[in-house]
Amino acid sequence: MRAVIVNQPGGPETLEITQLPEPEPAAGEVLVRVAAAGVNRADLLQRRGFYDPPAGATPVLGLECSGEVVGVGADVDPSVVGQRVAALLTGGGYAEYVAVPLGQVAPVPGDLDDVAAGGLMETAATVWSNVFETAGLTAGEVLLVHGGASGIGTTAIQMAVAAGARVVVTVGSPEKAQVCRDLGAERAIEYRTTDFLDELKGADLRPDVILDIMGAAYLERNVRALATGGRLVVIGLQGGIKGELDLNRLLMKRASVTATSLRARPAHEKASIVAGLVTAVWPWVAEGLVRPVVHSTFPLERVQEAHQVLEDSSHTGKVVLTLGTAD
Ligand SMILES: NC(=O)c1ccc[n+]([C@@H]2O[C@H](COP(=O)([O-])OP(=O)(O)OC[C@H]3O[C@@H](n4cnc5c(N)ncnc54)[C@H](OP(=O)(O)O)[C@@H]3O)[C@@H](O)[C@H]2O)c1
Repeated sequence: MRAVIVNQPGGPETLEITQLPEPEPAAGEVLVRVAAAGVNRADLLQRRGFYDPPAGATPVLGLECSGEVVGVGADVDPSVVGQRVAALLTGGGYAEYVAVPLGQVAPVPGDLDDVAAGGLMETAATVWSNVFETAGLTAGEVLLVHGGASGIGTTAIQMAVAAGARVVVTVGSPEKAQVCRDLGAERAIEYRTTDFLDELKGADLRPDVILDIMGAAYLERNVRALATGGRLVVIGLQGGIKGELDLNRLLMKRASVTATSLRARPAHEKASIVAGLVTAVWPWVAEGLVRPVVHSTFPLERVQEAHQVLEDSSHTGKVVLTLGTAD
């Protein structure tokens, strides 16, 4: 089968299409023929050699895909063969076939096509597990999303609004600010020209929950911005890994700081997150309240260009690779 591997750590030009044997589904796994695979920022880090796959995972890139179940391993009911699914992967999505634990696939929700479904799982699972399961966002609360126009951000806005929360975001341009407002964000703060802390001071928008992708660079301001009882969840470290935490401020606000990585979680935790998505989020997708914002698609052969789009941050929402029927 065709699959994308990293020739040597570096820029997009180091991505290479190669021929690999089709994976064999192990016990408890299904084999998916991939129709489309989302590109995530983590893939760029892996390509550069900063985010190695967990032990035992395939070196083929790709954390999510859509496709059809075409085979099963031992202990899996063969009646799932033929089902159209979206899958949360530990790797392997940039290929014609991928083997994945049954608990990490779900039927494609609503009327999503293969491309949209291919860019759904990683962001939906990340937002669900962090904003809802860990931080417990509830209706009427305020969520601050850093990078509102990212794949993660566009999903977070829609899911929070669907849950009845109010949303404020940070973004890099007026055009991206408009997209976020169109998705339901009450305010979009342009981080290149405005300090989000200044903007939120005095506004009726103190965040109860912050979904952060900047890490160290925003740690102090995030803690200052939080409402009493606020919850800061760090999922990205684009602004560095080591910062200073003012514990007194945290203590006086009875606030919390958490950091998580979805990829590193064991299969049973991923299965539990996917089950939560099917119950809580798939109805929102079916109602049209949540759907991946697809910026552009590229056939697998043009994977280098797809990575360049994310490198340039010229996208809003998701970039998706297409294979076979979705080409
Ligand atoms: N921990 C986990 O389990 C997990 C899972 C998935 C994703 N993530 C992380 O979530 C982040 C988003 O992932 P993605 O795939 O959605 O990436 P993406 O679409 O490439 O988005 C990256 C975003 O970073 C924003 N950004 C850059 N500098 C910023 C700043 N100073 N302030 C605010 N935003 C800034 C960009 O905003 P503009 O384009 O508007 O400039 C862009 O929207 C990444 O850091 C990724 O590693 C973590």
